[in-house]
Amino acid sequence: MLCQRLLTRVLQTRAFSTAPTLSYEYIITETKGEKNNVGFIKLNRFKALNALCSPLMTEVSEALTGFETDPKIGAVVITGSDRAFAAGADIGEMQNMEFPEVYTKQFLTKWSFLKQARKPVIAAVNGFALGGGCEVAMMCDIIYAGEKAFFGQPEINLGVIPGAGGTQRLVRAIGKSKAMEMVLTGEKMSAQDAEKAGLVSKVFPVEEVVGEAIKLGERIAGMSKVAAAMAKECVNAADNLSLDEGERLEKRMFHSLFACKDQKIGMTAFLEKKQPEWTDS
Ligand code: HXC
Repeated sequence: MLCQRLLTRVLQTRAFSTAPTLSYEYIITETKGEKNNVGFIKLNRFKALNALCSPLMTEVSEALTGFETDPKIGAVVITGSDRAFAAGADIGEMQNMEFPEVYTKQFLTKWSFLKQARKPVIAAVNGFALGGGCEVAMMCDIIYAGEKAFFGQPEINLGVIPGAGGTQRLVRAIGKSKAMEMVLTGEKMSAQDAEKAGLVSKVFPVEEVVGEAIKLGERIAGMSKVAAAMAKECVNAADNLSLDEGERLEKRMFHSLFACKDQKIGMTAFLEKKQPEWTDS
């Protein structure tokens, strides 16, 4: 029944060439930017500080699939409220779960849809990004934060550990010592410290962070989509590959762009001092 509902929604989403106009329970979706080429997902479970219950994550997955398949969209922004990006996985939902259930049903495994997105995804974080909320932000490609944002992996306080990549991505983002301290104590990191440590790329006043993330999305959406997708794939591959392997992948991707129209368009436009008109092919 749930699968049928999901399939129907995804097919509906794909049928529209612009933003999905579906109404969701836990999120709001729109397209943003002058050219409506930035997909926008707002987590909208305000009272529970956007705790990431399974239906909410299913909705995010559906919305992202819609933006991924919409050729007009060149980047996606995910945000929450001023008080919370997301305060973690839903503790109420998890409280009485038993091992056989979480193991056999691969609880949380589906969250990896976020890291599989081809289009660049920007997290615009205000307030708390804790536990699964911090992990979702880190699965995005770029994090912009409001000056009152806090990041943390407080799972240790609940007798568990991060379960959606937090122990891995945090080390890569801020180094072992800081990551270890946060994961072992549950201590939060301010937006300012997160910027210094490299977790966040820029910090803005609370009311500006979403707008700035959309502006960034518009800039990225204005690039050749095929080049942007390859650039994203190469940067993300750096997490898993040796330098030699990563360089080889990059070189092959670079070479393959010479089989695309946009390489000729971009280089010709530069030499003719014109703006390129990308074909995304
Ligand atoms: C379910 C949550 C929640 C969560 C907050 N709420 N976080 N519900 N799951 N993760 C609910 C509260 O129960 C409360 O509901 C309402 O949101 C407001 O929260 P308060 O605690 O009253 O607000 P405040 O005093 O301002 O404290 C904010 C807070 C605190 C510091 C963020 O809520 C907090 O510590 N939350 C839990 C953070 C956490 O441990 N996250 C990790 C979860 S585990 P009512 O109904 O009382 O108003 C996790 C595992 C990840 O993420 C594994 C892989 C994904």
